[in-house]
Amino acid sequence: MDHTLPAHIALIMDGNGRWAEARGRPRAEGHRAGAEAVRRVVTQCRATGIRHVTLYAFSSENWGRPKAEIRHLFSLLGEFLGREVPLMEEKGIALNVLGDMAALPLAARAALERGIRRTAGGGDMTLNLALNYGARSELARAARSFILEGARPEDVTEQRLAERLYTAGQPDPDFLIRTGGEQRLSNFLLYQCAYAELYFTPVLWPDFREEDLRAALEVYAARSRRFGKI
Ligand code: IPE
Ligand code: IPE
Ligand code: MG
Repeated sequence: MDHTLPAHIALIMDGNGRWAEARGRPRAEGHRAGAEAVRRVVTQCRATGIRHVTLYAFSSENWGRPKAEIRHLFSLLGEFLGREVPLMEEKGIALNVLGDMAALPLAARAALERGIRRTAGGGDMTLNLALNYGARSELARAARSFILEGARPEDVTEQRLAERLYTAGQPDPDFLIRTGGEQRLSNFLLYQCAYAELYFTPVLWPDFREEDLRAALEVYAARSRRFGKI
């Protein structure tokens, strides 16, 4: 296995709104351009041999945005799935959702469930979309599931906790990229990123291109991961 290549990349796709505002365009156009960036990056990750990709698409805090923007985001998601799921099926990419799907608009939820079913068994890559995702609520949900099962204190181990997270069965992200210039995690994968290498770039998500990912991967390859050892 090539240790200079992350097995799992997590991406905080930030900066769509600012990209649009800089052009004097509505934020919706930034999100549309952002969806194009998703397609490019996912294609490149698969070609590069990255086995797990997680995209932060909608946080549990993003419900605080104007209703029209939320509606637009989920309608873009539906369009994206309609176009991409057949290609994902062909390319062996399994779709997975991190987050509470129950609260999503019905049409989006149905399209996601269909996409997950159709791409199940895709063995080349797993694409996780974090939707209505928040790390704190993910951890609270895991804690509740221990209680519901009547777990004893000794049953609560790191391994069994990890099995109750949305990422169960997948390796932790090795590399976390945030575009858009902010240097924060915004409630994303707090448990799983305990030892992720962090990379922040000012490039706005719709502008994130092949060369930007290539440059980020070079930085990753040059990092020394010690996991507490010398
Ligand atoms: C990220 O871009 C996309 C989502 C959060 C859905 P933003 O919409 O946060 O863009 P900025 O940060 O306002 O530029
Ligand atoms: C993080 O971006 C969430 C997603 C990219 C989906 P935000 O734009 O919501 O994060 P904050 O508000 O700047 O922390
Ligand atoms: Mg933002």
